[in-house]
Formats: sequence, structure tokens, C-alpha cells
Amino acid sequence: MLHARQVKYPFGRERPITIILLGPPGAGKGTQCDLLSNALRIPAISSGDLLRANIRAGTAIGKRANEIMKEGALVQNELICEMISDRVKAEDCSFGYILDGIPRTEAQAKFVESLSPKSNLGETISPVILRLELDDETILRRLSGRRICPMCSLSYNIETNPPKVEGLCDKDGLSLETREDDRQEVCRRRLDAYHRTIEAIIGFYQKRHRVEVINANRPAKELARDLIETIWATMQNRPCLV
Ligand code: AP5
Repeated sequence: MLHARQVKYPFGRERPITIILLGPPGAGKGTQCDLLSNALRIPAISSGDLLRANIRAGTAIGKRANEIMKEGALVQNELICEMISDRVKAEDCSFGYILDGIPRTEAQAKFVESLSPKSNLGETISPVILRLELDDETILRRLSGRRICPMCSLSYNIETNPPKVEGLCDKDGLSLETREDDRQEVCRRRLDAYHRTIEAIIGFYQKRHRVEVINANRPAKELARDLIETIWATMQNRPCLV
């Protein structure tokens, strides 16, 4: 089990960390972001969660995003950038943050780059870029097994992370639900969108920063430990040993 106090900050808190977690739908970005957020004590920002919160609240952004998300297509860049730029202004982001699901296009990558903190000399402090890799077959199995609590949004998996009582949230006891965009045909469209756009994003980052590729096909806690080691290695500009 990871614990925040076991994590040693190589550069202390005075240096903010931006972590960008890239990967296909279902690779475990949300699961890893929660583990990393607890360990590093910086917030995880998920564009998908922010969009779903906007839909539930009936905001203008939510109304524009709803139908697009049901189809498994990408929401317009300007809506994503507006949402993220508001979120990163919050006080809890002052030591850094972990981005989950952003960027999804090169335009979003440029926008995220513009948010990067600067050193005293005015140079961009490099973000840590982590790319999770997982094969499509495993992704589709994970997504078809995902169940979500409608109240607290806790995420389960009927195969790999089942609730204590079948079909019910451990925390609220409410009936778990399937995400509307986890239907197989929508998952395939989401995967297509990922495969269409990811290389341009990776190309953008490889010209500027290190990109670490990590096999996501292993238990979540083991993966989180390796991600933390990779984050430290990147921040210290040393080779990654995992
Ligand atoms: P979003 O909510 O971001 O969905 P996604 O990227 O498709 O990712 P998921 O949440 O489906 O999966 P995940 O990688 O977080 O995996 P998780 O940890 O949940 O986006 C939804 C939609 O919003 C998009 O399709 C698009 O329309 C729109 N959108 C969002 N951001 C956008 C942007 N920037 N630009 C434009 N449009 C945007 O895990 C999945 C399952 O696997 C769970 O059941 C979990 O328990 C299980 N699991 C996790 N890790 C493991 C493991 N190590 N071993 C076994 N099982 C595991």
C-alpha cells in the first residue's frame, strides 16, 4: 500500500510538478491518478470527470459535451481548455497537478504547455510525461467490467476490483451503474479516436521533453509504484530503472 509519508520529494515542495498521464481509454489512468494524487499530495484533474460534472450540473459546457461523449467522439478543444484553465487556477494546484485525459489533441498539448510553470530564469519546468500502454483486447474487457457508484463516483471492476457485495457500492450501498460510453461500440469509437490522435501528441512532446512509456498490464498498485519511481527519475534527469 502506498503512503504519502513514504514518498520523498527530490526537490522539495518549492518546485511544482506537472504530471501528464497519457493512455488509451481503460488503461487505468483514473485509477493511477487517484493513487498518485494520494501519494504525492497534488490533485488529479480528469477532463472526463469535469465534463461529467458539467453534464450533471446542466451547465452550458455540459450541454454541448453530452451528445459528443455519448458517441465516443472528442469534445471541442475550446471547451476543454476553458474548463482546465479554470481548474488549474484553484489554490490546491499551486504545488502542481496530475492531468488525466488531457491533452487529447495537439492543440490541447500546446495549451497545456502554455500552463507550465517557469523557473527563476524564465525557462519552462518540464512536465513529467507518462504514457500507459495496453492492448485493445484487455482494454475492452476492462471497460465492459467497469461499474461506477452514481453517488460517490467510486469505480469498480467486476473482474479485477469487485465490490464486497455484488452490484452495490462499498461506501454508499447504492446500486452500481455502467458508464453510458462503456458500451462496446462506443468503446471502439473512443479507442479509434485515441489511436488517431496519440502519435501527434507524442511527437509534440518528444521534441520538447522526455516521454516514458509504461506497460499498464499489471496490478494497479505495482504499476503505481513504478510510476512514482519513473516520476522521480524524470525529475532528477536520470535514467529510469523500472
Ligand atoms: P474519460 O472519462 O477521460 O475516459 P477515457 O480516457 O476514455 O478513460 P476512462 O475513464 O474510460 O479509463 P481510464 O484510463 O481512466 O481507466 P480506469 O482507471 O477508469 O473521457 C470520456 C469522454 O470525455 C471521451 O470519450 C471524450 O468524449 C470526452 N473527453 C474527455 N477528455 C477530453 C479531452 N481532453 N478532449 C476531448 N474530449 C474529451 O480503469 C478502467 C477499468 O479498469 C476500471 O474498471 C478499473 O477498475 C480497471 N482497472 C484499472 N487499472 C487496472 C489494472 N491495473 N488491472 C486491472 N484492472 C484495472
